[in-house]
Amino acid sequence: MTVHSTKIKILPKEIYTRIAAGEVIERTANVVKELIENSIDAGSDEIVVEVVSAGKKLIRITDNGCGMSKEDLVLSIKPHATSKIYNFEDIYNLSTLGFRGEALASIVSVSKTKIVSKQKEEPLGNQILVYAGEVISVSECASNDGTTVEVKDLFYNTPARLKFLKSDYTERIHIIHTVEEYAIAYKNISFKLYSDNDLIFSVKKTDNVRERLKEILKKSIVDELIYFEYKDKVFDAYGFISPVELSQVNKTLQMFFVNNRPITSRSISQMLYDAYKDSLPTGRHPIGIIFLNLNPQMIDVNIHPTKRMVKFENELYIYEKLKDAIRPKIKHQFSPTKFSAEFKESVQQTSEEIKEDRNISNVQQDFLLEKNLDKADKVQEFKFEYLTDDNLNKLGLENYVYLGQLNKTYLLFETNNGLTLVDQHAASERILYEKFMNSNFLSSQKLLFPINLELKPSDYEAVKPYVDLINQLGFEVSISGRSSLGFYSIPSVLNVDDVRDFVFRFIENLVSEIKSDEKQKVPSKEKIIRSACRAAIKSSDILTLSDVEKLISELAKCEQPFSCPHGRPTILNIEISQIEKMFLRRK
Ligand SMILES: Nc1ncnc2c1ncn2[C@@H]1O[C@H](COP(=O)(O)OP(=O)(O)O)[C@@H](O)[C@H]1O
Ligand SMILES: [Mg+2]
Repeated sequence: MTVHSTKIKILPKEIYTRIAAGEVIERTANVVKELIENSIDAGSDEIVVEVVSAGKKLIRITDNGCGMSKEDLVLSIKPHATSKIYNFEDIYNLSTLGFRGEALASIVSVSKTKIVSKQKEEPLGNQILVYAGEVISVSECASNDGTTVEVKDLFYNTPARLKFLKSDYTERIHIIHTVEEYAIAYKNISFKLYSDNDLIFSVKKTDNVRERLKEILKKSIVDELIYFEYKDKVFDAYGFISPVELSQVNKTLQMFFVNNRPITSRSISQMLYDAYKDSLPTGRHPIGIIFLNLNPQMIDVNIHPTKRMVKFENELYIYEKLKDAIRPKIKHQFSPTKFSAEFKESVQQTSEEIKEDRNISNVQQDFLLEKNLDKADKVQEFKFEYLTDDNLNKLGLENYVYLGQLNKTYLLFETNNGLTLVDQHAASERILYEKFMNSNFLSSQKLLFPINLELKPSDYEAVKPYVDLINQLGFEVSISGRSSLGFYSIPSVLNVDDVRDFVFRFIENLVSEIKSDEKQKVPSKEKIIRSACRAAIKSSDILTLSDVEKLISELAKCEQPFSCPHGRPTILNIEISQIEKMFLRRK
């Protein structure tokens, strides 16, 4: 005789109405996330994820967890059915990722789903087949211990939602990224991910977080990360941060986990930037892979249906303590100028926002500048005047006096109009971009030693389709191994000294460009060239007077001298009258 048990209960209305409601299945990666969470909650230590056509045709997740009885299997797909909470208050004492009892119900209502599940103590398993929420069959079957959920044809019965799915390419990157996150959060679980029968990655159980990170992220980077830990009565934390030299061009290596739950958090993110304050060049981002553990009573996970955000009871306290733990670990390079901090910050913030918004072509530049001014109220007080063609002529060809360099970034000129500032990196990027665009891409610089670049699987997936085009633009790159690129030559026009550094930054830039352009508005070639030009620009260069003259005359020759290829301004002007106002000489 077999013993049946039910653990799952349907939550009564007074409980489920208090749980953050909302659709959580909007793309295939959401299904993957919910199913992985269920497998983790079931105590699995082996999880296999298989997707076909970026999960649009099939998502199959197999675990070796506790499995479900036949009764529970039938209950599991019902709305508000959960074994994880019985009372509302239980959500303040959660040791599981799930608690809403909604994921399976949502998934089965928009797909053809089969769940096979077997508990260890049972000789046989059971399977349930559900199409568009209708139970087609429930039957006994032979099965391994654990659960397999197979989701076919997601959104086949909701064409409007199907339409919202992006290309396979984009959805696949999201899936890989999702699995990467859980693989980082749960080092004691082995994960395998297959996409269209290709093994994307496979990681074995380990007790060592750094090992796990190395397997998922770029190995060379992980070796250089600085470990930190902190512990007091309220919470404990540990994680990995970057030395300042290893700052990144994007935020993809900022990952935060609270009680192992991957989350996004403004305050933790802010904390990280504050810890690095004055240490990073403008526009660079620190790495921070941070694990926080605290008493579940101190967090509220019920503020957002996807459980991606949590509310901390002692947010400020955690922020302060974490910052104090991290800051001494960073090697400081204080920037020389503290001049007009407010002014600097507002500009920084604006350029941050522009950088976030990468889909900006040169044609949209005028619009951008307007938006730029609108957004930066503080900046507007100073009434910056973006130079017109005439102004540039004056600057380039008439009498200007070079005054010097500010913050190793801005070239200062006295001009007929007052004070003119040139962002030397933005300007160099513009010049290089136009040179590159106008070159025939034929002349290459052969590398003495090929450079091999390891990428994390989701970045590799993002970059892979670009390789052919990269090769047409004067590079010689090949795919090598499971997720690395081998560089053999790079375009001569880029005139790079530190090739290794260039190659790293180029690919980092490209990944950012790709990820911020999900709608694929920016042509691939444009993304590659912008990324390469940005990477080739030397940062924090001290320029000689003749370098400055060369830069200005080359900029003057550009077709679109007023913005860098990303739409940031290259030149701005502060009129004497504005300065006089600032000194209260004028009203
Ligand atoms: N892989 C699995 N192994 C064992 N039980 C599972 C698995 N997936 C789902 N279940 C059961 O089904 C229930 C409903 O799952 P779900 O709809 O995701 O809600 P929740 O995870 O919020 O409880 C879970 O509470 C759990 O009891
Ligand atoms: Mg769940």
